[in-house]
Amino acid sequence: MRVGVFDSGVGGLSVVKSLLEHKLFEEIIYFGDTARVPYGVKDQNTIIRYSLEALEFFKNFEIDLLITACNTVSAYALSEMRLHSDCDVIGVVEPGVLALKNAIPDTDADILILGTKATVKSQAYEKGLQELGYHNLSAIATTLLVPIVEEGLYEGEILQSTLHHYFKDLPKIPDAIILGCTHFPLVADAIHNYFEGQSTLIHSGEAIVEYLESHYDFTKRFEHTELKFFASENPEGLRKTAREWLGENI
Ligand code: DGL
Repeated sequence: MRVGVFDSGVGGLSVVKSLLEHKLFEEIIYFGDTARVPYGVKDQNTIIRYSLEALEFFKNFEIDLLITACNTVSAYALSEMRLHSDCDVIGVVEPGVLALKNAIPDTDADILILGTKATVKSQAYEKGLQELGYHNLSAIATTLLVPIVEEGLYEGEILQSTLHHYFKDLPKIPDAIILGCTHFPLVADAIHNYFEGQSTLIHSGEAIVEYLESHYDFTKRFEHTELKFFASENPEGLRKTAREWLGENI
């Protein structure tokens, strides 16, 4: 199966990492809209327009499935993309909600949702979780973590003071934290340690693998996946990040 993976920038590489670990696809075509990242501070119309343009890009490749490895796109543009796509389009929000349910069945659990400004504003996670009965929900737009990850500051003082800035007023340690932005898994260890290892973290990449394995037939696994990386700006920069994050011969 040939799959397209779309993100506003490099964040979706964290989803690609999970797809590769599970050997799900023969070929992955990645497109990061690096010229226009971040999407998370843009309005709905702009996010939809950019996402439909990305869909046009993928039409050159005859993909069998498109994964929008961006929570912001998943929260705002999924239904529009599905209307205009010849193949299935899967977002990361619904898989994230289902992964949370599998990990923490107790609907009284305290759930903290982290995302971009746009994702938090959409309340996409809250809607999905409330339908399942979860009611102790809070959300923080941890926007600064996006450029911090883009800068490769996965540990250290800047990251620690940013986490403190966002989390210092929380009344208690949450039972679970949804990493509702595909950049955030890169700082998952720091978030986990900040909460003394007591919160279960939900990661879009692992969530989508769980979702794909329960919705599609993956009897065949691929020891080698052909990877193609495209970006709307500085594709070599994207490939460099891919080499660092995926540790593959790219
Ligand atoms: N990777 C995007 C997401 O998951 C966040 C980055 C952005 O703001 O474009 O929401």
